[in-house]
Amino acid sequence: MSSVPTDAVRGFSPLSHLKSAAATARQPRDGISVATLDEIEGTTSDLRKRMTNLLRVETATRIVDVGCGAGTDVIQSAQIVGETGLVVGVDHDPALLAEAQERARRAGVESQTRFIAADSSSIPCRTSCFDAARSERLFQHLSDPIATLGEMARVTRPGGRIAVADSDWASLSIDTPHIGIERRIVAALPTLLRNGYAGRELVRCFRACALEVVEVEISPVLWLDYPKFWRTSFSLPDLETRLVDSGVVSRDELDKFRESLASAQNENAFFAHGDMVLVIGLKQN
Ligand SMILES: C[S@@+](CC[C@H](N)C(=O)[O-])C[C@H]1O[C@@H](n2cnc3c(N)ncnc32)[C@H](O)[C@@H]1O
Repeated sequence: MSSVPTDAVRGFSPLSHLKSAAATARQPRDGISVATLDEIEGTTSDLRKRMTNLLRVETATRIVDVGCGAGTDVIQSAQIVGETGLVVGVDHDPALLAEAQERARRAGVESQTRFIAADSSSIPCRTSCFDAARSERLFQHLSDPIATLGEMARVTRPGGRIAVADSDWASLSIDTPHIGIERRIVAALPTLLRNGYAGRELVRCFRACALEVVEVEISPVLWLDYPKFWRTSFSLPDLETRLVDSGVVSRDELDKFRESLASAQNENAFFAHGDMVLVIGLKQN
């Protein structure tokens, strides 16, 4: 792997295209802002490093990061692969890709990175052109996760590794005296996402795509700060309205629940946690 195989990547979007797309995109496509992504990054930085290690990223490795958002993992990997490697970020949100591209430029890794605006179920890259594929917190947004995992497997070479990490929202636990309300909200949360049980389904998805499962790890996320918890885990647009309108809780119950969390925060006693699931698979020869 001596040179960057740009021919591996069909139709990547040049910077000018991404900039103009970003200027016209008023809202992020999934309601995920750069500020929220940056805040979540701090809660999952150990998991990201773990993924990089388990993927065996090293000098000259070629990697695709699917659902790359603002490019955190693309940049981190690009710093390791160096100028003889290649890290391609794929996302369907041009505004996030433009931000990622600008961050890659500022980080000095522009020459070994490419950004492609595409749907994850149709990655415009050649079969077997990457040594590894990774994805973090994309699968909870997908209605057909196996289609995306199948694409990640297709573009990875035989013997290459594929890492997917995602939340298991069913594992969320929030300390409050209103346990009944909390349980109803936690049960409803995954149903408000396209694929809220993504984490716990990953092993099954890997097997369905004929990938050998080589590692499975659980990584807890802990929140001791109520406003940060709400911003980073209840960040869906209109979440509160949807919880009330769908009859999960009444407005009074929601207010009571939120007041209990605010008072825990005031007493420096807010506590919540939930699990991320990481699966590493091997594309068989
Ligand atoms: C929660 S963010 C995670 C971003 C990034 N992986 C990170 O860890 O910061 C999910 C990302 O997946 C992207 N996304 C969601 N559905 C997608 C799809 N069908 N195809 C491509 N990207 C998608 C969103 O635009 C967003 O950037």
